[in-house]
Amino acid sequence: MTHQQLVIAQLNRIPSTLELALQIRLKLPLLPISEIEEKAVNFYLRFDEYGLGLQSTTKKAPGSLYVDFKRLTKRVGDSVLQQNLFKAIGARKGKRPGIVDATAGLGTDSFLFAAIGCHVLAIERNPIVFALLEDGSNRFLRLGALEAEIIERIELCQANFLEAAETLESTQVVYLDPMFPTKNKIAKAKKGMYYLQELIGSSSNDKELLEAAYTVATERIVVKRAKNSPFISVKEPSISFRGSSSRYDVYLLN
Ligand SMILES: C[S@@+](CC[C@H](N)C(=O)[O-])C[C@H]1O[C@@H](n2cnc3c(N)ncnc32)[C@H](O)[C@@H]1O
Repeated sequence: MTHQQLVIAQLNRIPSTLELALQIRLKLPLLPISEIEEKAVNFYLRFDEYGLGLQSTTKKAPGSLYVDFKRLTKRVGDSVLQQNLFKAIGARKGKRPGIVDATAGLGTDSFLFAAIGCHVLAIERNPIVFALLEDGSNRFLRLGALEAEIIERIELCQANFLEAAETLESTQVVYLDPMFPTKNKIAKAKKGMYYLQELIGSSSNDKELLEAAYTVATERIVVKRAKNSPFISVKEPSISFRGSSSRYDVYLLN
């Protein structure tokens, strides 16, 4: 996916401040929404009443994708520490490790870590995905004091983890979720995955990500994989937590 196939939609006759600021930041064309269909555009970004959304122009594409942390809050219930994601990062009573989420994407995992009390550095290299993530964080932050407390535990960073790793402070856990399921395995319901796959395609830096993670993590590296995928490296993980569709491979460092 190249930037030329992506534009920012101008919803009214005069562009809004948000639209103009995004245009300058992402260096994308701003196009009146009425003209988008006739141009060869694959995706457009739009600011509407729900926030910043990404929309595909493909006929069968799902509706716009927004980062919506509000819908995630119900996943953080009483039995939260029983969930594989949290077991994998080593969270337990009295322990909330610091985390570098090196492939933050739409921020679902970063948000869940922060919601249980972890401090998270969320790194995302794709500027479009990062803009969606930042917009979702800002909207959630404004909902109230409790919401702000969660978001304040997340530091967002637009960077390539492979380049940033050597400048980062050592952190207890590095979390990696670089993999996309192949297209035909993406359930229609998983709008976020559909869009990430369409926008970014498959990642090919998995092994390098693991190597870079070793230079930052002090306690463990956690790699999210599809349930039956091979390990990310020839080195076997110390332990794996298996769920119905995914698996968390944990590389213990001490
Ligand atoms: C499967 S998504 C992550 C989903 C995320 N765990 C969530 O909860 O939304 C993978 C993301 O990793 C990002 N990514 C891949 N390689 C990266 C790198 N070297 N540095 C930073 N981000 C990277 C991609 O741009 C993509 O957004």
